[in-house]
Amino acid sequence: MSTSNEELIQKAKKAQQNAYAPYSQFKVGAALLTNEEQIFLGCNIENSTFGATNCAERTAVFNAVCNGVREFKKLVIVSDSNTPVMPCGICRQVLFEFSPDIEIISVGTTGNIEQTTLPEIFPKGFRFNKTSRKS
Ligand code: THU
Repeated sequence: MSTSNEELIQKAKKAQQNAYAPYSQFKVGAALLTNEEQIFLGCNIENSTFGATNCAERTAVFNAVCNGVREFKKLVIVSDSNTPVMPCGICRQVLFEFSPDIEIISVGTTGNIEQTTLPEIFPKGFRFNKTSRKS
């Protein structure tokens, strides 16, 4: 049985409620579906220094990795915007590390849906290997 988008959207909305966004007032929630059909959630967590802010997408990935899971097939994002938000550059690189082919679904406040894939929005991510080093 595969998890429905509706279930992922509802769970992402639950996580969104826990967002800590006192500076931007922009709450984001994410639900990450693993290859084994587990779901890990994330919300954005802001910081006084702004730069230490963690996006909802990365929180979800880190939550999963911390629980021993590293393979993901779908990411659902919800936010306070009616225009579906797309992951920032840092989150794209973090997703690329674990699941370069992941599907991404972002939902706006009135149900606007944007559906894409990581290869489409982040085609040439960085991979560290020996040739990345000078010698
Ligand atoms: N944010 C996310 O959590 N995910 C995105 O895809 C876009 C931006 C957060 C970071 C910050 O807390 C707030 O939204 C405004 O940028």
